[in-house]
Amino acid sequence: MILQIRDLSISIRGQEIVTIDCLDLAAGQRLGVVGESGSGKTMAAMSIAGLAPGVVDVKGSIRLNGQETIDMTDRQLAASRRGLVGVIFQDPQRALNPMMRVGRQVAEAIRLHRRQSRAHIRARVLELLEQVQLPDPQKLMRRYPHQLSGGQRQRVMIAIAIACRPKLLIADEPTTALDATVQKEILELINDLSVQHNMGLLFVSHDLGVVRAVSEYMAVLYGGRLMEMGPIGHVLERSRHRYTEALIASNPGRVCVGTSEIGLGRRFIPIEGNVPSPGAFPQGCRFRGRCRHELPACVEEPRLTLLEDGHAFRCWNPTIMREAESHGSAC
Ligand SMILES: Nc1ncnc2c1ncn2[C@@H]1O[C@H](COP(=O)(O)OP(=O)(O)O)[C@@H](O)[C@H]1O
Ligand code: SF4
Ligand SMILES: [Mg+2]
Repeated sequence: MILQIRDLSISIRGQEIVTIDCLDLAAGQRLGVVGESGSGKTMAAMSIAGLAPGVVDVKGSIRLNGQETIDMTDRQLAASRRGLVGVIFQDPQRALNPMMRVGRQVAEAIRLHRRQSRAHIRARVLELLEQVQLPDPQKLMRRYPHQLSGGQRQRVMIAIAIACRPKLLIADEPTTALDATVQKEILELINDLSVQHNMGLLFVSHDLGVVRAVSEYMAVLYGGRLMEMGPIGHVLERSRHRYTEALIASNPGRVCVGTSEIGLGRRFIPIEGNVPSPGAFPQGCRFRGRCRHELPACVEEPRLTLLEDGHAFRCWNPTIMREAESHGSAC
């Protein structure tokens, strides 16, 4: 496994933001994490990458390529992450240094990983810029970030993220700031690179259509809890959790699954209310208060129900109820 999470608890000043009891990602697997804004996606992704701000307290177990990272010092973590994890952020404008030429920024990412001759590094920079399909890399490497379009800047960020040939690529809303056509191209690029280089992909987005475009597996996060997860076709076509169901119905785009189309293709139903702040979630199921299918039992945290092929959910009143389903841990 490239990523193994057990009993993960992420909190800020004693306030629990995210808990994940169990999540595995094998080499080359592509997992999309979806949920409304404020669900804890960024906090989870940055904690896995070892990039959460200092105020964040991370407990439990996060193994990257078999190595426990939780108790590492920042320096140990940076060293172990190098060559293992690449990260793409939402806003390349802020992630790139505006004062440094693009080529040098990619070169720095290569140098961090391994000492090489200047000629070697230059050749690798050109190779990376070609891999992310930037036109005329020779010319482009001499430009500054502000001389590039938003899509080109995101491609440079991707080149930096894959410079150390990571086994795991973490992308946090990498296309949210881009217009629709550029978004599609960037998603295709991330998908192709992940397949070509057998990189695990942890792809975070609030947009179901975007997650669908790049993922084989999907995890639905709400209130810092994994509500449903499994192969993407199962979760989208046969969603059990009422939050997943609500998220699909509220999706502003059309989500194509095989030959069927869900989301706006049927009827647009917004989810009532907003995601509460971390201290304000109700007792029991965190979706209580916004769920149209709440039962008295929902005041208790739902048990995890396991279905076939790793499909699992926690909900007391799922869309389909069957007697003989097992309960337990997803791992
Ligand atoms: N630096 C921070 N200090 C305090 N609370 C934070 C901080 N960053 C995020 N949060 C809170 O953690 C929760 C999850 O945030 P985040 O992971 O950014 O959600 P998402 O990425 O799903 O939109 C939110 O309620 C947010 O207010
Ligand atoms: S456990 Fe209850 S409140 Fe939570 S999603 Fe299911 S039905 Fe709704
Ligand atoms: Mg976020």
